[in-house]
Amino acid sequence: MTTIAVPSKPGPMGFFKTQQDLWLTRGGVVALLIGSIVFFKFLLDSQPNLIAVDLSVGRLTGAAECQNCTYSGIAATNRTIRLPQTTFQNSFLPCKDYVKPGSSARDLDVDKYFKVAVEDSELLHAAQDESTKPLPDGNPKIAFLFILRQKIPLEPLWERFFADADEDSYSIYTHPSLWIDQFPNTSVFYNRSISTKEVRRFDISLVDVVRRLLAFALLDSNRANMWFALVSEACMPVRSFPYIYDYYMNSTTSFVEAFSPLQRYKHWETRPVFKMSQLRKGELWMSMHRRHAGMVVGDVTFYRKFKADCRNDCTLDEQYIQTLLHTLDPKGIANRSVTYSDWSNPNHGWSPQNHYAGLINPELFKKIQNRTENLDGQYMDSSDDFNHTMQTCVYNGRPHSLCFLFARKFSGEAADVEALLKLPKSVLGY
Ligand SMILES: *[C@@H]1O[C@H](CO)[C@@H](O)[C@H](O)[C@H]1NC(C)=O
Ligand SMILES: *[C@@H]1O[C@H](CO)[C@@H](O)[C@H](O)[C@H]1NC(C)=O
Ligand SMILES: *[C@@H]1O[C@H](CO)[C@@H](O)[C@H](O)[C@H]1NC(C)=O
Ligand SMILES: *[C@@H]1O[C@H](CO)[C@@H](O)[C@H](O)[C@H]1NC(C)=O
Ligand SMILES: *[C@@H]1O[C@H](CO)[C@@H](O)[C@H](O)[C@H]1NC(C)=O
Ligand SMILES: *[C@@H]1O[C@H](CO)[C@@H](O)[C@H](O)[C@H]1NC(C)=O
Ligand SMILES: *[C@@H]1O[C@H](CO)[C@@H](O)[C@H](O)[C@H]1NC(C)=O
Ligand SMILES: *[C@@H]1O[C@H](CO)[C@@H](O)[C@H](O)[C@H]1NC(C)=O
Repeated sequence: MTTIAVPSKPGPMGFFKTQQDLWLTRGGVVALLIGSIVFFKFLLDSQPNLIAVDLSVGRLTGAAECQNCTYSGIAATNRTIRLPQTTFQNSFLPCKDYVKPGSSARDLDVDKYFKVAVEDSELLHAAQDESTKPLPDGNPKIAFLFILRQKIPLEPLWERFFADADEDSYSIYTHPSLWIDQFPNTSVFYNRSISTKEVRRFDISLVDVVRRLLAFALLDSNRANMWFALVSEACMPVRSFPYIYDYYMNSTTSFVEAFSPLQRYKHWETRPVFKMSQLRKGELWMSMHRRHAGMVVGDVTFYRKFKADCRNDCTLDEQYIQTLLHTLDPKGIANRSVTYSDWSNPNHGWSPQNHYAGLINPELFKKIQNRTENLDGQYMDSSDDFNHTMQTCVYNGRPHSLCFLFARKFSGEAADVEALLKLPKSVLGY
């Protein structure tokens, strides 16, 4: 005869055999509840405060306002005084992303980061910390941040450009693709690369590279980097170094193209981090003041929001920093780029016109240098997808100013490089 296990019938105390069982179970349930509450509280505490920080940040200071300022105890020249005016708290980073308690940029062996891969959070936090301090001693510099997919075919041109520069006025940092060999020791790009990670276009990895380049340049205490210009191997300067230096140093705004892409992202819930109307788009090739660089490396909230759920047509490299800076400091960015690109060909696809040898002549550069309008209205095939904020270039509040310091795209073809190198100094200024 087979026996089948049949659940015993619930007695007066349900399934509990004894009074003791009942109390043990009740105790267990209470302990579980308390445990869950403690756990959820912990989870909540470990999240970054969503914009609980003070977003009202100062603005860049124009020369006229600074004639009485002092810097490190010495009366400052107009040029050296353009420092971050307000320091903002480190509360952009949640506690758990801090490195060792009490550590600061001073304790970090920055040189080591040129050699090894590091946890970005440590680097970024230290860099933000550094950005709130006075600029290191020395002449304020422009940090050129090169994001390279290949070696720089226009290297001879850049060498010509930097030959006109006071060595004390610039620094170079490169993020080369993994397969690029070291530059020879005669190159201005020699030994300037930061540790390399894999990068994909439109991807968060590209944003990571931008933030790491900014962080290295901010942390480099040997170099008083005040401006940060992002450039690629397809970019070239269209002005002399002294012109570019003054253009940046006298500017009261950073140059970040930022227009509102209205149609495509309607379904993306962006609150509470920012409002949909604050979403901005623009080219990656931007230039920013040290204060804005500090905001970019210090941000956690926007970064997580974008990384977590910016999908469907979301080109992170063209939206994250643009939206961040537009939201934190709308008046602090000029909403335009200083890098010329030509989208005028209706068949351009996803990239602007490449300037091949046949198109390279002095008139092209005169035209670019003379431009006082930014044609971002032709950014996309269907330009009605975008409402563009800027047609006329404004510099320090003056409309119809000259727009461009750099231009792209230029290929690495030998014939194109040769055509560029033939241009006399009177055309490019260097
Ligand atoms: C600026 O400096 C001048 C001369 O050093 C001084 O007389 C004046 O009071 C200062 N102004 C301010 C606002 O500090
Ligand atoms: C600052 O620049 C203005 C004009 O741009 C000039 O008149 C003034 O003398 C300069 N001040 C200093 C301290 O260099
Ligand atoms: C540069 O490298 C070459 C070999 O590639 C070497 O002979 C030369 O000494 C190096 N120069 C310096 C300044 O390191
Ligand atoms: C390379 O750069 C690092 C960091 O700037 C510096 O410490 C080192 O001396 C440089 N090495 C050479 C060979 O120039
Ligand atoms: C920037 O300021 C310098 C002096 O500090 C001046 O000589 C130069 O003309 C200014 N450049 C621009 C573009 O305003
Ligand atoms: C950039 O555009 C925003 C609006 O999108 C505006 O508030 C801001 O003043 C503009 N910046 C400049 C420098 O004009
Ligand atoms: C540059 O612009 C000015 C004024 O807009 C114009 O008079 C001049 O002819 C232009 N030069 C070139 C080379 O396009
Ligand atoms: C662009 O802005 C105008 C008003 O400023 C608005 O009427 C129009 O619908 C916007 N375009 C798109 C594509 O949203």
